[in-house]
Amino acid sequence: MTASASGFERLQSHAARLSGTGIAQLLKDEPERIAAQALQVGPLYATFARQRYDAQAWDALLALGRERDLPGAFRRLFDGDKVNVTEGRAALHTALRGDLSPAPAAREAYRTAADVRQRMRGLIEALEASEVSDIVSVGIGGSDLGPRLVADALRGPLPGRFRVHFLSNVDGSAAQRTLAPLDPARTAAVFISKTFGTQETLLNGAIVRDWLGGSERIYAVSANPERAAAAFDIAAGRVLPMWDWVGGRYSLWSAVGFPIALAIGFDRFEQLLAGAALMDAHVLEAPLESNLAVRHGLAAVWNRNALGLASHAVLTYDQRLALLPAYLQQLVMESLGKRVELDGSPVAADTVPVWWGGAGTDVQHSFFQALHQGTGIVPADFVGTVRNDDPYAANHDALLSNLLAQTEALANGQASDDPHRAYPGDRPSTTILLDALTPQSLGALLALYEHSVYVQSVVWGINAFDQFGVELGKQVANTLLPALRGETGAADPVTAELIRRLGC
Ligand code: F6P
Repeated sequence: MTASASGFERLQSHAARLSGTGIAQLLKDEPERIAAQALQVGPLYATFARQRYDAQAWDALLALGRERDLPGAFRRLFDGDKVNVTEGRAALHTALRGDLSPAPAAREAYRTAADVRQRMRGLIEALEASEVSDIVSVGIGGSDLGPRLVADALRGPLPGRFRVHFLSNVDGSAAQRTLAPLDPARTAAVFISKTFGTQETLLNGAIVRDWLGGSERIYAVSANPERAAAAFDIAAGRVLPMWDWVGGRYSLWSAVGFPIALAIGFDRFEQLLAGAALMDAHVLEAPLESNLAVRHGLAAVWNRNALGLASHAVLTYDQRLALLPAYLQQLVMESLGKRVELDGSPVAADTVPVWWGGAGTDVQHSFFQALHQGTGIVPADFVGTVRNDDPYAANHDALLSNLLAQTEALANGQASDDPHRAYPGDRPSTTILLDALTPQSLGALLALYEHSVYVQSVVWGINAFDQFGVELGKQVANTLLPALRGETGAADPVTAELIRRLGC
């Protein structure tokens, strides 16, 4: 289905109507706004009251969602329809964490995933009974960012049973620095790659295998288990499958989450899945107007297509979520960085903005100047936790007061006769509060973002589950390896000059 331009034009006419109405005015004009623009789902509360649409514009957003048949799109996703049309695949990450669809493909996926989780549990128990103290997880992109985020967010202040280290970059210094402090006799490794054809993972895997002195303590996770086993001579019992119906950036819930389960324990890994399943059930069942993922996704559409904003910040007010922006960059930008619709025709409206961010309060002292007074407006998600788990209550109060202050200052601004000291305000934000940072709340938060991405993809008419844009660079790099080694020349004159400068 081609997404028509008229829905976006309607949004733009609402934006024009509202161009002189600031956020403070919207709050005055709409006494119900605070309640109407907030939702609580399980451990997550989110308020959209500081977005720059009013009730009428919100109705237009909902109408666009209805036109695009968001409920039907969710049903097709959960049922295992081939929503990844360019690759002819389902995207059944929801079946990794819950039995929410009666469709045979989804039931089968759910059962298969549950079996693999039990195998994973067995492997973890065997490792727990061994001398191993450290795990090196080798993978990149979706085979790294999710596990890295969750393991970091949910680990305690002291190491658990295993210390888990992540190795992704092909730069040899990454391998050197990761391995230097470790003892090969007390280290095991997990190689994670959906394809097992990824240059970084194959090269780093070879380094780790040689450093370990063999493959007895190497485990693998792959949708191509034979290739994984053959490449590193890994016994079949230590190779866990994943499937082509799980996209890399949606895969932390599968055996790709092996390092998570090692870092935080298998039971807490299952709680993470339960938190995601809670959000899945909400997204599938809640009507559009009270559906949190729909609300979040439509707010993003408003900022991109009605207000024309080209970047989006995610600001975490919980240090344990410091890796969330990096994880979301792949989830959002690899999914939504598309310029053609499902049928190959050009999109009717701009798609993904640049997603970036960091952890407050640190980033208040780096890029917040630009958020408050720069010429470009950057809508932001502020993510915080109500309760902390550290003993420093005064710091938590200070952290929360900063979160509240920044969202308020960005929205309300402050007038001054001195233009250097004036704050324009009207900079939109969404605030998301987790009751506490637990496996459940984090699972729910990540599932919310996955579904928000899907909402945006459906509104824009694009495929959220392929990533052909990353292939060209890989192909060119492969052709330039022999040129770098002096075996061939480089056709591009700038590259040829750079290779000369590199001394090859
Ligand atoms: O960056 C491109 C990409 O294909 C991602 O989509 C994927 O998560 C990553 O590479 C790693 O791929 P694999 O798991 O196959 O090694």
